[in-house]
Amino acid sequence: MDLQTVRKTAREKLGGVCRVCPVCDGVICAGEVPGMGGVGTGTAFRNNIQALAGFKLNLRTVHHVSQPKLACTILGIKLSAPVIGAAIGGIALNLNAAMNEREYTGAIVSGCSRAGIIGMTGDGPKPEFFAAGLEAVRAGGGQGIPVIKPRETGLIVEMANQAAAAGAPAFGIDIDAAALMNMTNAGQPVGPKTPADLEYIKKHTRIPFIVKGIMTVDEAEACCTAGADAIVVSNHGGRALDHTPGTAEVLPYIAEAVGERLTVLADGGVRSGADVLKMLALGARAVLVGRPFALGAIGAGDQGVTLIANKLIAELQAAMILTGTADINTVSEETIW
Ligand SMILES: Cc1cc2nc3c(=O)[nH]c(=O)nc-3n(C[C@H](O)[C@H](O)[C@H](O)COP(=O)(O)O)c2cc1C
Repeated sequence: MDLQTVRKTAREKLGGVCRVCPVCDGVICAGEVPGMGGVGTGTAFRNNIQALAGFKLNLRTVHHVSQPKLACTILGIKLSAPVIGAAIGGIALNLNAAMNEREYTGAIVSGCSRAGIIGMTGDGPKPEFFAAGLEAVRAGGGQGIPVIKPRETGLIVEMANQAAAAGAPAFGIDIDAAALMNMTNAGQPVGPKTPADLEYIKKHTRIPFIVKGIMTVDEAEACCTAGADAIVVSNHGGRALDHTPGTAEVLPYIAEAVGERLTVLADGGVRSGADVLKMLALGARAVLVGRPFALGAIGAGDQGVTLIANKLIAELQAAMILTGTADINTVSEETIW
C-alpha cells in the first residue's frame, strides 16, 4: 500500500467530486458544497491554506533534540501524536457515495486508532448518520469522538449521553453548522446556541464537551464561562461561512485569551507535519485533519487512513528535530519565524 495508489484509487472512486489535487487547497473545488470544496467563493477554505503558508518555521539544528517526544494526552485521551481525524459526514452527497456512512466512520475510527490517534464521527439529516458513528465507536472499543449538530439542546444532551454509553471518551457539537439547510429541510432543525444552552449541555453530560467551530475571542470566552472542556478553532474547512479568516490567523489571539481554562484544538488546511507544528506553535494543543484523511479512507479504507496518519506523524517528528522542538506538549512560539 503506497500513497500514490491510495490517491489514484480515491480519484477514481470520487468520480470528479474531488480531483485529488497535488495540493488540496480549495482552488478548483471552490463553491462545491455538496462536494469537497469551500462554500461560495471558496475564500474561507483558501484562507485556511494561505494563513498556514504565511507562517514560516525557524530551522534550528544546533541542539540535542534527536528523539523528540510526540505523545500527548488530550482531554484524558492518550495519543501517539497531537493529531485527530476530523468528522466528515454526508458521504453519499459529498463523496460520491464512494462508501456508506458506517464504512467511512469505521475506516476513520480504526485507521486512526491503529496509528495511536483518535478519529471523530459526524451527524447529519438522517438519524443513520449519527448511529453509524456510534456503531463505529462501539466497535472500536470507544476510540472515537462523536460530533453532534447544533440541534435542539435537550436532544444534544440525549445524543451526548448515547455517545458516552457507546464508550466515547468525549463528544462535540459543530456549532458552526447552525445554518445548515439540509438539516432544517429534513425536519432536523439546527441553530445557534446561547451561552446558557452550552452551560446546560455541560451540566447534563458526563464526558468532556468540545465546542467545534469557534473563530473569535469573545465566543471562546463564552465557552470558558459555560464550562466547555475544549474548543476547536475551526471554520468547518471553509464550508460554513464564506470570507472568514484562516483559522491559523485567529488561533493565537484565541489561545492567548483562554490560556489554560480549556483545551484549544484547531483545524483547517493542515496538510503536513510542518502544518501541525505551526498550529501548535500558534497555541493549539492538537489539530484535526479533515480532507487528507477522507482521501485515505476512500482510497484504502482504514489502511489508507493509517497510512496518511503515519505520514503526518513522521513529518511532524522530522519538523520537530529540524526546529529543535523536544516535546510536543511545550512547542515554543519561537518555532515560528
Ligand atoms: C465533505 C466534508 C464534510 C464535513 N462534515 C462535517 C460534519 O459532519 N461534522 C463536522 O463537525 N465537521 C464536518 N466537516 C468539517 C471537518 O470536520 C473539518 O472541520 C474540516 O474538514 C477541516 O479542514 P480540512 O479539511 O482542510 O482539514 C466536513 C468537512 C468536509 C470537507
